[in-house]
Amino acid sequence: MRGLPMPSVPSPLPTSPHVRSLWPMLRALLGRWRSSLRLLRPAHVEANRAKIAVAQLGHQYANKVVALQDVDLNVRSGEFVCLLGPSGCGKSTLLYALAGQVKPTGGTVSIDGKPIHGPGPERLLMFQEAALFPWLTVRGNITFALAAKGVPRAQRKERADAFIRRVQLTGFEDTLPHQLSGGMKMRASLARALAMDPAVLLMDEPFGSLDAQTRIHMQELLQSIWMRTGKTVVFVTHDVHEALMLGTRVVLMAPRPGRVVRDLEVHLPMPRKPEDAGLNEMTRHVRELLRQVEGPAPREPVPRPPPAPHPAVPAHGLARPAR
Ligand SMILES: Nc1ncnc2c1ncn2[C@@H]1O[C@H](COP(=O)(O)OP(=O)(O)O)[C@@H](O)[C@H]1O
Ligand SMILES: [Mg+2]
Repeated sequence: MRGLPMPSVPSPLPTSPHVRSLWPMLRALLGRWRSSLRLLRPAHVEANRAKIAVAQLGHQYANKVVALQDVDLNVRSGEFVCLLGPSGCGKSTLLYALAGQVKPTGGTVSIDGKPIHGPGPERLLMFQEAALFPWLTVRGNITFALAAKGVPRAQRKERADAFIRRVQLTGFEDTLPHQLSGGMKMRASLARALAMDPAVLLMDEPFGSLDAQTRIHMQELLQSIWMRTGKTVVFVTHDVHEALMLGTRVVLMAPRPGRVVRDLEVHLPMPRKPEDAGLNEMTRHVRELLRQVEGPAPREPVPRPPPAPHPAVPAHGLARPAR
């Protein structure tokens, strides 16, 4: 053996001068990709330790579209979970099943270990449309929610104004919804949701109709409120950057049939800033993951069924106040 020539050991650096000049850039890219992997780790939550436990959930609409298939998802109390995926992958159907607005055709949803059979006061659903009562002022919308919760009349105004301050709407207490901008309406809606004090906040693309700048402000506001209140939030979005900006966890979904394909914990410190380099790098990484799981576009055009039923009021069903 001793007389045999030694196999040549490949140099750690590429030899071509052209490739060598690219090497530092490649190494930096590889390092950033590795750190994205470290910051995004698979989530493992036991059902018996979960606030929300979804087991083998399936839903087929009357038109035979399988909106959800075999979805398992456990959410700890105080987590901020983003359901992320392209349009039609079943995000809203899953959220409505958590709210008790959609009765799934298979599987179970449990809150604190008890299966749910409809809406409940511990869960509140918020939509893109702020769904404020148009005949009530900002304060009126909130005092109405406080009344529904049984808060004595004498305390309602003061408490409503505290929630208005929390969403930075001070000065607009007596304004009617139609006099507010889209972002302000969403703030008022958020204040009303917080006044209801649900343990679980379910949000379906709430910032989808806002302009880019307002959307960033709302994300920062929601993040600071979540950090203070520690509510359990399930937030639907198709915007990867928004999911990673807000979520302690991102659940990636894919369509046809709607299913969960990845469940990842986001290990980036909070509060996050939209321009964080780590966040932007991670966004690229997750976009790539989504491209892989989505696969090629279908050849046949898929017929569009009618849109999901859209309740105009929160999950617990607020009625017009008695005069
Ligand atoms: N009310 C409904 N009736 C029939 N099909 C529906 C209804 N609502 C949604 N779907 C279909 O179910 C699938 C999942 O929809 P949805 O949950 O709204 O997805 P996403 O929120 O991810 O866009 C889609 O193919 C959609 O067209
Ligand atoms: Mg949707």
